[in-house]
This record gives sequence, structure tokens and C-alpha cells, in this order.
Amino acid sequence: MAYSVLVAANRGPLSYALAADGTLTARRGGGGLVSGLSAALARQPDALWVCAALSEADREAVRQGVSEPGVRMLDIDETVYDDAYNGIANSVLWFTHHHLYDVPTAPVFDAEFRRHWDSYVVYNRAFARALAQEAAEGAAVLVQDYHLALVPGELRELRPDLRISHFTHTPWASRDFLDMLPDDVRAQLMWGMLGADVVGFHTSAWAHAFMEGARLDDERGTAAPCFPAGTGGERYVEKGPAGPGRGHRRTDVAVYALGVDGDELRALAHRLEVNDKLAALRAEVGDRRTIVRVDRTELSKNIVRGLLAYRELLTTRPEWRGRVVHLASAYPSRQDLEVYRAYTQSVRELAARINEEFGSQDWQPVLLSVQDDFARSLAAYRLADVALVNPVRDGMNLVAKEIPVVSDGGCALVLSTGAGAYGELREDALTVNPFDVSDTAQALHEALGMPAAERAERTKRLAAAATALPPSAWFEAQLSALRGP
Ligand code: F6P
Repeated sequence: MAYSVLVAANRGPLSYALAADGTLTARRGGGGLVSGLSAALARQPDALWVCAALSEADREAVRQGVSEPGVRMLDIDETVYDDAYNGIANSVLWFTHHHLYDVPTAPVFDAEFRRHWDSYVVYNRAFARALAQEAAEGAAVLVQDYHLALVPGELRELRPDLRISHFTHTPWASRDFLDMLPDDVRAQLMWGMLGADVVGFHTSAWAHAFMEGARLDDERGTAAPCFPAGTGGERYVEKGPAGPGRGHRRTDVAVYALGVDGDELRALAHRLEVNDKLAALRAEVGDRRTIVRVDRTELSKNIVRGLLAYRELLTTRPEWRGRVVHLASAYPSRQDLEVYRAYTQSVRELAARINEEFGSQDWQPVLLSVQDDFARSLAAYRLADVALVNPVRDGMNLVAKEIPVVSDGGCALVLSTGAGAYGELREDALTVNPFDVSDTAQALHEALGMPAAERAERTKRLAAAATALPPSAWFEAQLSALRGP
């Protein structure tokens, strides 16, 4: 069967677990991208999701021919996959787009990097080949994220008849950070992206950063040619690289600000399991106010400075001691990488230090949870008086949109200027410079003291903005733009 709508993403809608007796069971995949896309794709009758086998159990499922309808999992060589996912996607592209490098020592582009980059090319080509095999004539192919930046260019070579889009869920790097990449690698990256008919981002800031990168490379002659053909509004035009006999192609650069499905989220947040977790949390918190954050333990989320701000609040505003609890959920992520393990450790240590410094017999200032427990997170959302979302740089940040939709009593949102959601939510949030711990502590103080009526009004407007473009509408909008009139 050839498919008319195809999605390509590193993570699939499910992953497998392998029991000791060799039985394979399918489980729903994790992460925001997966849940948003799963909901959107469920409405497409003739769609295929191409993803990578992430674990030994996934690889075993592919080898045994176990699969679910509408999903094709690619069994990519383990070392190639590790180099591409950990070595390039998570250690180079993620750090570049989020500006995470500690510049005196990183990045280092050496022989090991080159080996990883070669694997990244192989991994992207495996996706392009699978998509080329599965797509019907003129099909729409929607490629997701920095893992697959070369897929549009590679697929265009194989199947010029397809309509191809690429959506980046992270920020796009500023020119200074993009410039750190070796010239040929940066050029290959832009070549891959500009193989798409449409390149999408969550905000116009990331779209502009992308276009600036594309044009400067062109001026210097270090990239395949791409010429700006006009800007304005939320839709822009770039020219993709020339292909044999095809001249310069047009690439639209577009903005689709992903939001949340309010009805679905509220229904999830009122399940029995969540009610039970809520009751347990209430018993721990008592009648104190709450500051809630929920993140993967991720360097870009700025969890350490968030805790420092909370400590400064307790130091400079002693009136809050004993009257507030910080519910911080920081569940594990990318623990194959030493830098993530070290970051996780520093989060744990700082939370423990704050509890030692300020805690008393009947008050624990920080309740840190390191479990990936969605029901507990939803319970914390419902209990939130203040939501703390302070990433240094973030593509969108759906937590900033989810908490106002779910909180029972309305919440004051402390929001970083570095979050993609800042553009849509800033008017009703208390906005902070993510590096300024004192500014964040002051915002927490104001948020905790915000009068209930004002908080309720702001929460209503935040929830309306957060639900403006739910995942299915976000996906449909891209699909119809890609298919054209
Ligand atoms: O923010 C980009 C993103 O790809 C999300 O879509 C996803 O939830 C997150 O990173 C998780 O990444 P990983 O698949 O490495 O756990």
C-alpha cells in the first residue's frame, strides 16, 4: 500500500518492551511531540508514521516483523543510531539551537565528530529511503525536528514528485551559534532543510533566525544558493538549493504555534488516578501556596536557576517561609549523556540543600519528583497557584500552556522571555530574564501575592491563548498548506 500522508519522526507513537520470556508488548511512546502527532494522525485514514527503533526491544520487534498499522519502524544499526541521536542530534544540534555550549571548552569538532556526522547522514538517508518507498505519487510528507534535518534534501533527490515539509520543535540557532559548525556541515544542514517545500517553526523569532542563517550562508558562498524573495506577516519565502536541471526551488518558511487541546487535557486531569494523586499532594502541601514546575531534566529548562530563585525568595522574603511549597517535577531524560547525568545530580543536590537550609519539622520547602509520572504532573498542575516556566531557550514549552488550562483555582504564570510561548502569553504572564535569578525571585513573590480576581482573569486569557491552535488544527493547517489549493 502506498500512503498519501506520511510523518517522519525519530520517536514513534509506540515503543516495545521485551519480557524475559521473549514476549513483546507495545506501549505508547513518550513526549509532547508524540502525543500531539498521535492525536492529529488518528484523524487521517491513510497515513504512515516512519520512526526509528529506539531500543533493543524495538529492534527485536522489527526483526520479528511485529508492527502496528500505520507505523513503520526502522531498524538502524545500533552504533549508527547512537552516533546520530546522542552524538549529533542531542549533543551538537540541540546544543546549537538552544545556545547551551560552555564556549571556553565546547564545542570541539574533531575526528570523533566527523564519525558521528557520517552516521547522522546515514540515519537521515535511511528515513529518506523508507519514505520514498512508502509514499504514493504526490504524497504529503511531514518531517519532524532536528534529528531529521537532512531528510527533505535527500528525499527530494529520490522523489521530486512529493510535497515535503519540515517542522522544527526547538528554537533555531542564532547566527553566532550556527557559525560554530564547520562550514560544510552547516551548508549540508541548510541544503537538507531547504529541500522542503515548507519549513515550519513555532514562532516568528525562530523562523527569522532560520532565514538569516540561510541568507548569510548564501552571501558568503558557503552554502548551496538560497535567495530571499520577500518577507512579511507570518509567512516568508526562501529559495531552496538548485537540483540537477531544476533551478532554484521555492521554500516557504511558516509559523504554526502549537497549542494544547483544552477539552482533552481537562478530561485527562480529572481521571480517578489523578484525583488520587491530587489528594496525596494536598495532604503533603496542606494549606500552603504552591509553585509548580514540570520538565524533563533538561539543560535548556534552567531548573537550577529556578531553584536558586526559590532559595533567594525564601532568603529575601522570609514571610513566605513555611507558607509555600515548590513542587518541582524533573523527570529523567537523555541519561546516556554524562552532561545530563551531571545536571540531574546538581538539581537533586540543590533541592536537598534548600530543604536542609530552610526546612522544619512540619515543612519541606521543595518536593522534588524525578519520576516520569504524568498523572502526578497533572495533579500538580491542578494544585498550582504559581507556574514557573523559566527555560533559557525553548521552541515552545507546552507546560506554560497546559498549567493555566488545568489549574483548579487559576495560576499566576512566571514565564521566561526565552520560551517560544512568551510571544503568545507574555501579556498575562509575569515575564523574567531566565538568567536573572533575582528578577525571577521577585516575580515569584509577586505571583504568590497576586490577588485572586486578577489571577483568575489572567488565567482565563492564558488558557484561551494556549488552546488557540490544538495539535489536530496545527497538523491540518500544515497539511493543507503543503497540499496547496
Ligand atoms: O523539543 C523537541 C523534542 O523533540 C520534543 O518534541 C520532545 O518531546 C523532546 O524534544 C524529547 O526529546 P527526546 O526524544 O530526545 O526524549
